[in-house]
Amino acid sequence: MAARGNGEAGRTPMMAQYRALKAEQPDALLFFRLGDFYELFAEDALVAAPLLGVQLTSRDGETPMCGVPHHAWLGYARRLLDAGYRVAVAEQMEDPALARGLVDRRIVRVLSPGTYVPGEEEAAEATALPRLAALWVERLAWGWAVLELGSGQVAVAEWGRERGEGTLLAEWARWRPAEVVANRLPELPLPASPRIVDPDPARAREAIRRLGAESARGLGLEDRPRALKALGLLAAYLARSPQAASGPPLARLTVYDPRQALMLSRRELNALAVFAPAGEPSLYRVLNQARTRMGSRLLERWLAAPLTDPAALAARQARVTAALADPVGRARLRERLGAVGDLELPLARLSTGQGSPRDLAALAPGLQALDGVVEAAAALGWEGPPPAARAAWREAAALLNRLLERPAGDWEEGGILRPGSDPEVDRLREAIERRQAALVELEARERVRLGLKGLKVGYHRTFGYYWEVPRSQARAVPQEWLRRQGLVNAERFTSPELIQLADAIQQGTLELVRREREAAVAVRDGVLERAEALRQAAAWVAEVDAWAAAAEAAARHGWVAVEWDPAAIRVEDLRHPVLETLIPDYVPSDLILEEPVKAAVLTGPNMGGKSTYMRALALNVVLAQAVGMAAARRARLPIFDGVYVRMGAGDDLLRGQSTFMVEMEEVAAILRQAGPRSLVLLDELGRGTSTYDGLAIAWAVLERLAREEGPWTCFATHYHELTALAGLRPVRNLAVEVAETGGGPVFTHRVREGTGDRSYGLEVARQAGLPAAVVARAERLLKDWERQGRPQPPERGGQLTWFEAEPLSTEVLATLARLDLDSLSPREAWEWLADWKRRLSAARTAQG
Ligand SMILES: Nc1ncnc2c1ncn2[C@@H]1O[C@H](COP(=O)(O)OP(=O)(O)OP(=O)(O)O)[C@@H](O)[C@H]1O
Ligand SMILES: [Mg+2]
Repeated sequence: MAARGNGEAGRTPMMAQYRALKAEQPDALLFFRLGDFYELFAEDALVAAPLLGVQLTSRDGETPMCGVPHHAWLGYARRLLDAGYRVAVAEQMEDPALARGLVDRRIVRVLSPGTYVPGEEEAAEATALPRLAALWVERLAWGWAVLELGSGQVAVAEWGRERGEGTLLAEWARWRPAEVVANRLPELPLPASPRIVDPDPARAREAIRRLGAESARGLGLEDRPRALKALGLLAAYLARSPQAASGPPLARLTVYDPRQALMLSRRELNALAVFAPAGEPSLYRVLNQARTRMGSRLLERWLAAPLTDPAALAARQARVTAALADPVGRARLRERLGAVGDLELPLARLSTGQGSPRDLAALAPGLQALDGVVEAAAALGWEGPPPAARAAWREAAALLNRLLERPAGDWEEGGILRPGSDPEVDRLREAIERRQAALVELEARERVRLGLKGLKVGYHRTFGYYWEVPRSQARAVPQEWLRRQGLVNAERFTSPELIQLADAIQQGTLELVRREREAAVAVRDGVLERAEALRQAAAWVAEVDAWAAAAEAAARHGWVAVEWDPAAIRVEDLRHPVLETLIPDYVPSDLILEEPVKAAVLTGPNMGGKSTYMRALALNVVLAQAVGMAAARRARLPIFDGVYVRMGAGDDLLRGQSTFMVEMEEVAAILRQAGPRSLVLLDELGRGTSTYDGLAIAWAVLERLAREEGPWTCFATHYHELTALAGLRPVRNLAVEVAETGGGPVFTHRVREGTGDRSYGLEVARQAGLPAAVVARAERLLKDWERQGRPQPPERGGQLTWFEAEPLSTEVLATLARLDLDSLSPREAWEWLADWKRRLSAARTAQG
């Protein structure tokens, strides 16, 4: 092994080997196999040690170093991947015990966040398959290619300046890639920084060839040069990992137009809680009744990219409606889907060289269940997968029959094949068993022969088989036995006969493992030859499962099929599909807008339900265009080309911009992008600035939206002045109803035609527990201002004298009248008295 001593670290042959390997993958953290550890050196060690929580040491007092035990490497690598790094693994290519000189090492695999496929144990609920995206940046145009390694699907798109950055952010949000590579950095803030990759034209051609087409024309990319370049970039990046040659990662290509899907940016998806972190309520959680992970993944895609193409939407809706109409057929289908499990994930791992025998075996139950699923789907009137695929998966299932139900997790351990599936393996197994029996006989014989009652045969992983004798009897063992080890109470020996048998067993085991691996690899290769058919099967299952799941959700939550109408929004009993599952007494409301009146102004009290109503509309539009359903009693909707939402503030604290600035930027973007077929939802626009500035902006924006070629618009506001616009423009006024009762106003949460006259802000403030004196004071001010107009800032400097101008006595009396003595603390009472006293003397001084 390497020489020791200061200053030699960089010069030993091993470190030279390390540097050569590192140079092959300069941007990856290199796991360098050294005995039972993978070591990281130099810069890599400095980066990895804190992330992995392992000790940073140094090699020869000079080169920083840290290490992880080889059997647990994957968990450590995973942490680095999650932090965005690439990991390269250099293995020992020969047994160090047998190697002459420096052990040969090679990089056998490179993992990156976008190409790593999690194992069964790691896969959380409905884990999305990792996606790798390539972004081609030109000055005013973009190319985009996304690879989902698990399913082998590649989607490419391109767009120009007119859809620009918004589209990039929307696509990013839609696909949620685990890793993005780019030819250069675009000049805009992105969710994560892409990895810059050298474009390599030769690789682009290679990628195209692997997709089974000779030219860009064959892929339908001849007039999409940027999409093609993004695809080439993707391929160039993939080709840098050594396992790329073995896998068939680029299986199917779809060229898509970003306009085919409803425009939804990350902000919209977040603001509406279409998705949410695990455990929190979201539209996805309500919709996801899938029985397979493949189905869940597809539903996620559907929500992230709702359809805008009427024919595609009608087709999907027809399937969901059929499943909704036949509860028995649906239940049967869903029960059979429950047995399928996940085909995509194990297949992805196997076809990228990451799979184990266990992944292989995991395919078996699913393939066996498929015929039943096809039958149940046919009963609902749904076509099965292509016949060729069916034949191929039956062949694969027959091959998989040769494996144990739960084989070893490693190709090198044996324990993979089912008895009777390979005569040679059976023969080897029997031979080993015979010798093990002989061992037991030998033990009995020697006990008698030597008169050693305590004698027994044992086995140790590194030492192999041994005799164990209690220390007290150790003297009685024959001369020719060799002592191997001493324990506290016993001694261990070997004997020639034992060695002979042990060698035979070891040889047999080695042979068995080799033979089993061969046979298992043959099964794997046979299955992988049919990978395309299996992927088709998986894609078909995903779709069938997703249709049935959407129907199941619709049945559970009382959703209805949407009727499409380009000229009207007519929703009866509109409900918020998520909130209604969380609170017991959700109050539905109608929404009716018909051309030419496409805009509504929504007023009403604080806490009345304005924001909820608008969210309900937006979520139902997403749901409608994802699966054709809506949470309502009846729903007629246009097919929107985009939903633009501006809700509340506070989501941009991290970018350090002023709330108002962010709001104005967003509104600017909305006014630029929203067309006549879009839906715009603005919640309390303009509240982040002074009242009149805000009102003026709100008025002007609404005027701009509410015109002939404007989008469908819903505008919630506390500026009641805006309701006057209805007389001048095609705008409908809606308001949240308030019922006045003896005990104060009650917010019914019901939206009606009309205008809300007040905001009841003080009422809400009181309910929220603002001190009674503050509320009383606010009421007083409000009354005065209504009478005399609002206060003006003083001419120059000075005090706001009007504060003290109104009679203190009225306020004191008003406060006393509504004071609840039972809930008043002595401290509060004292503070009031002190405050009044202070102000009384101030007023006196002013007058005197
Ligand atoms: N339709 C409804 N049925 C039952 N409860 C509702 C309904 N709509 C809203 N709520 C309840 O009322 C609360 C306030 O709703 P929301 O935030 O939509 O009011 P708002 O009018 O936007 O208020 P603000 O003007 O203060 O923003 C919600 O948290 C919800 O619990
Ligand atoms: Mg609100």
